[in-house]
Amino acid sequence: MNTLEIAVIPGDGIGKEVVPASLKVLDAVAEVHGGLKFKYSEFPWSCDYYLEHGKMMPEDGLNSLKGFNALFLGAVGNPQLVPDHVSLWGLLIKIRREFEQSINIRPAKFFKGLTSPLVNPNDFDLIVVRENSEGEYSEVGGRIHQGEDEIAIQNAVFTRKGTERAMRYAFELAKKRKRHVTSATKSNGIVHSMPFWDEVFNEVKTEYPNIDTSSYHIDALAAFFVTRPQIFDVIVASNLFGDILTDIGGAIMGSIGIAPAANININGKYPSMFEPVHGSAPDIYGKGIANPIGQIWTAKMMLDHFGEYELGQKVLDVVQEVTYSGIKTPDIGGKSSTTDVVNAVCSKIKEF
Ligand code: NAI
Ligand code: MG
Repeated sequence: MNTLEIAVIPGDGIGKEVVPASLKVLDAVAEVHGGLKFKYSEFPWSCDYYLEHGKMMPEDGLNSLKGFNALFLGAVGNPQLVPDHVSLWGLLIKIRREFEQSINIRPAKFFKGLTSPLVNPNDFDLIVVRENSEGEYSEVGGRIHQGEDEIAIQNAVFTRKGTERAMRYAFELAKKRKRHVTSATKSNGIVHSMPFWDEVFNEVKTEYPNIDTSSYHIDALAAFFVTRPQIFDVIVASNLFGDILTDIGGAIMGSIGIAPAANININGKYPSMFEPVHGSAPDIYGKGIANPIGQIWTAKMMLDHFGEYELGQKVLDVVQEVTYSGIKTPDIGGKSSTTDVVNAVCSKIKEF
C-alpha cells in the first residue's frame, strides 16, 4: 500500500467548504485504486487562528509541514477582520517562499459543460509554467526624495539558475503533453532581461530536440490567448507575465471557481503545495454553493505530481461529465450545491 501523507490547510471562507469536499473525492479515488491511501493531517491556520493567537501560524509551523508528501490548501483571507497583506504574507507566501516553490503551474482548458466567453473556444488545452521566485517580483529597489523629485526604482532580477529551472520544467512537462513549448518574451522592449531570457530559452531548447518551440512577445501572446488559445500547449513565462497570462487563462475557461494551481518545489527539499486560484469568497461562504471544481482539479494536479496520471485524468473527465450533465453550482449557471457536485463526482468515480 502506498500511503501518501497530506498536510491539509482549509484556511478561510469557502476553503473550509471546498477542501473537505475534495478530500471525499480523493478518498473515492483511493478506494477504486486499491493500492493507494491518503493520510490527512489538518492544520487550522487561518484568519480565525490569527484572531486567537496573533499570528497566522505557529513560529515552528513550517517545521511541522516539512515531512509531508504534499500540502493541500484551500484559501486564505478574511479582509473584514484581518488585512490581506497580513494573512497572505503570514501563511501562503511564507510557505511558497520558504519551501522554495519556485514554479507555479496553472492549466486552462475548454471545459465541457461550461460556457467560455470565447465565441469559438476551439477545445483549447494549455498550461502556463510561471517562474515563481524572482523576475519582476523582486524586492530589489527603493524610493528616494519626495514631492516632484520623488523616484521609485523597481529592479527585475533574472538569474540563470531560476530562468533555466523554469524552462527545463516546461520542456519536461511538454514531453508528457503535446510536445510544444512557447516562450513568453518582450525582448523588443525590455533590453536586458528579455534578450537574456531568449538566449537561455534558445540554449535549453537544444537539449530537447523532440519538442517544438515558438516564442512570442507577451502582448501578442496575451491577444492569442483570446483569439486562438488552441495553438498553445506549454507556455513558459516570467513571474509577472505568467501572473497576467494565467488570469486570462482562467477567464477564457469561464469561471474563477474552476481554475487550479500548483506551487512546485523541484529540488525535493520541501513539499509542493496544491491550491485553487480563487480566494476565500466571503460573499458566498456558509451558503453551501461554493464551486468545488478548482479544488478538485488541484487534487488532480497532486495526483499527477505523485505520478498517477491516469487517475488524475479520470478525475478531470468525471468532473467534466458531471458538469456537462447539468449538476453545477450557481456561479456556472447551475442550481446544485457543493455537496451535490461532490456526491455526483464520487459516485461516478466509484463506477470506474
Ligand atoms: P475570490 O476569489 O475569493 O472571489 C472573487 C469572486 O468569485 C467572488 O464573487 C466569489 O464569490 C467568486 N468565487 C470565487 N471562488 C468561487 C467558487 N469556488 N465558487 C463560486 N464562486 C466563487 O476573490 P476576492 O473576493 O478578491 O478575495 C477574497 C479573499 O480571498 C481576500 O481576503 C483575498 O485576499 C483572498 N484571496 C486568497 C487567495 C488565496 O488564498 N490563494 C487568492 C485570491 C484571493
Ligand atoms: Mg494573479
